[in-house]
Amino acid sequence: MKTVFITASGTEIGKTFVTQALIHQLRSQNQGVRALKPILTGLDKTDDIYNDAELLLKSLSVNICPENISRISPWRFKQPCSPDLAATLEGTSISFKELLAFCKKHDNSDTLLIEGIGGMMVPLDKTHTVLDWIIALRAPVLLIVGSYLGTLSHTLTALGMLKANLITVAGIVVNESLTQPIPAQETANIISRFSHNIPITVLPRVNKPEDAPDLLPLIKHYL
Ligand SMILES: Nc1ncnc2c1ncn2[C@@H]1O[C@H](COP(=O)(O)OP(=O)(O)OP(=O)(O)O)[C@@H](O)[C@H]1O
Ligand SMILES: [Mg+2]
Repeated sequence: MKTVFITASGTEIGKTFVTQALIHQLRSQNQGVRALKPILTGLDKTDDIYNDAELLLKSLSVNICPENISRISPWRFKQPCSPDLAATLEGTSISFKELLAFCKKHDNSDTLLIEGIGGMMVPLDKTHTVLDWIIALRAPVLLIVGSYLGTLSHTLTALGMLKANLITVAGIVVNESLTQPIPAQETANIISRFSHNIPITVLPRVNKPEDAPDLLPLIKHYL
């Protein structure tokens, strides 16, 4: 299995940006890559030019059309809230079993990047969170965290949950937040005191995902 699950300590931390960077870097090395954003919420928001599915298709150089969006993001909801609530508001629910089957169906010789949703403990239905999704897939995780004030506790809490559930953490990306009390590298250094041998990379603010530093060393053992 060459699946890597991209999750984060919270929402809007940089999962899509990092996934796009990884797609670009894998494609630059002529490596086959696919990407899924199985659950998409907030489709009614008008401030985004592209939603996550469209951004991933763009990076994959796949035509942005309704068919291709539904192929990588079958669960789509209008409200910008947790998947469980967004689905309930539309009178439906996300079948955890179908979600797992959908992710496993795409497992083949290409690298498969699965972008989760929100943070790790977001409810997907009445009983499952993103963490349960990760546990069930048994895929290594790339954890994206910020450098904002408060990130240390959020990051170490997320790492604690992953460790308690014996999840393999391939790497941590400290993605530079818009405001930060100390340089992101210093935040990374502090996290590394608690994360033992998990590789950590700092992603500075850059203009576009293609300008990101090399993130492949974080996942290379799992490809
Ligand atoms: N390193 C970076 N440099 C510049 N902009 C960034 C960087 N990381 C993220 N961004 C921008 O920050 C915003 C949030 O990032 P992104 O959409 O990747 O977060 P996310 O975790 O995928 O959010 P969501 O929980 O909504 O899926 C986006 O507008 C993205 O372009
Ligand atoms: Mg995203």
